[in-house]
Amino acid sequence: MKPTYQDALAYYGVNGAHPGGLPLTKSLLEQEHITAATELLDAGCGTGQTSAYIKRNYPCHVTSIDYHPTMVNRARHRFQKEQLPIRLFQGNVEKLPFHDKSFDIILVESVLIFTDWKKSLKELKRVLKPNGVLLVLEMTSERKLTSNEQYNMCSVYGIEKVLTEQEWIYEIKEAGFASVDIKAAHSVFSYLSSSPEIDEEGLDLTAPRNTEMENKLMEHSHILYVYGNIIGYRVYRATC
Ligand SMILES: C[S@@+](CC[C@H](N)C(=O)[O-])C[C@H]1O[C@@H](n2cnc3c(N)ncnc32)[C@H](O)[C@@H]1O
Repeated sequence: MKPTYQDALAYYGVNGAHPGGLPLTKSLLEQEHITAATELLDAGCGTGQTSAYIKRNYPCHVTSIDYHPTMVNRARHRFQKEQLPIRLFQGNVEKLPFHDKSFDIILVESVLIFTDWKKSLKELKRVLKPNGVLLVLEMTSERKLTSNEQYNMCSVYGIEKVLTEQEWIYEIKEAGFASVDIKAAHSVFSYLSSSPEIDEEGLDLTAPRNTEMENKLMEHSHILYVYGNIIGYRVYRATC
């Protein structure tokens, strides 16, 4: 079976696998009130780069979860190497292994689009405390895509659909959130021309070369180049 985009990210251990990378995450966190009592969940944590950054820089409790076994291994290795006391789970955002009202802040960076987002958003709402904050960073189309554009995007990423900003806001509110603010908005091209910092940690160059995985990552770069002005991302900050 051909690898998915997420298999390729996991294979090469791509860090900060979301638009804006760690610099955007840092600026979002600076705007939140995070104390020693804060329970924070990094849902779909990937290699654990964001979780590790949070644990190093904030006094809060960090819990991380991801579905992909390779990603979970990479995150575990990182946390052990840096001796970071982070609770790590392999599990599904659509059915979280946590009690109701467990977290004050939930960070979801480029994850929901790969899931059944209706189920995931309901789960995230369930485990968030009533006065908690959900930060969702998601691929978002700048306008409704044609069926051909949707098909091309979905084929590369193995997803069902790319949503517009209005569609994401609708879905988040449908899950029970009362208010949704946009904290950041960029098309791929406007993001690239704003001179983002390069992620210094990049990816795992010790992984043996694998043509299928490389092709998948190249498909990703290619389609973002072709659709750079109609595809972008938004950061949605939702509260109950
Ligand atoms: C694009 S990567 C982003 C990883 C990380 N948040 C980051 O920004 O670097 C998407 C991640 O979501 C995870 N993922 C996808 N579907 C998931 C699900 N249903 N439950 C938990 N994690 C999932 C993938 O394994 C992958 O690590």
